Amino acid sequence: MTLQLGDTAPDFVAETTDGPIRFHDWIGDHWAVLFSHPKDFTPVCTTELGEVARLKPEFDRRDTKVAGLSVDPLEDHHAWVGDIAETQGHALNFPLIADPDRKISTLYGMIHPKADDTFTVRSVFVIGPDKKLKLSITYPASTGRNFDEILRTIDSLQLTAKHSVATPVNWRQGEDVIIVPSLSDEQAREKFPGGWKALKPYLRITEQPRD
Ligand code: BEZ
Repeated sequence: MTLQLGDTAPDFVAETTDGPIRFHDWIGDHWAVLFSHPKDFTPVCTTELGEVARLKPEFDRRDTKVAGLSVDPLEDHHAWVGDIAETQGHALNFPLIADPDRKISTLYGMIHPKADDTFTVRSVFVIGPDKKLKLSITYPASTGRNFDEILRTIDSLQLTAKHSVATPVNWRQGEDVIIVPSLSDEQAREKFPGGWKALKPYLRITEQPRD
């Protein structure tokens, strides 16, 4: 069955480049990103993992742990990581999960047989501290992901979780946000004492909450 937003992200145990993990324990009280890459020793994956290593402080700032995954065995991961540091200038600083029996890939629906029946596609799952799936994105193997966009989605998800606001099209950190429709005007007055601009009764724009 397809994993849907709001579902509990399946728990699993796995071998990783940082040692064994039990996924839910590893997440703890943090946010998490789990992303699959099709195969070790491939060019696009090499660039992506270098970029995530470079962006690690940005994930940390968002209290978000990151883990990559492919169906390759742990020995291959260990053999490959030197290439990432050498060619991308950033050494791996987060766990890469080995999934040679495809147990985790299958649990998360990361293998799309009509695209490729062996390797994973480029899945991204953002998981909240409650272990619920908050966001998923799927790219084909040939398209490297934009991890700035993934950071942007985490900013949006965390604002919604904390402040009952949604983010409009092409929103960027610091820009105005939208009061969620489920909040009545009366409830909104309590939460947003600075007020809002109502372009329509359902389209209420307010400054991005600061904390
Ligand atoms: C890559 O990472 O470069 C890649 C992997 C599988 C298919 C196409 C490209």
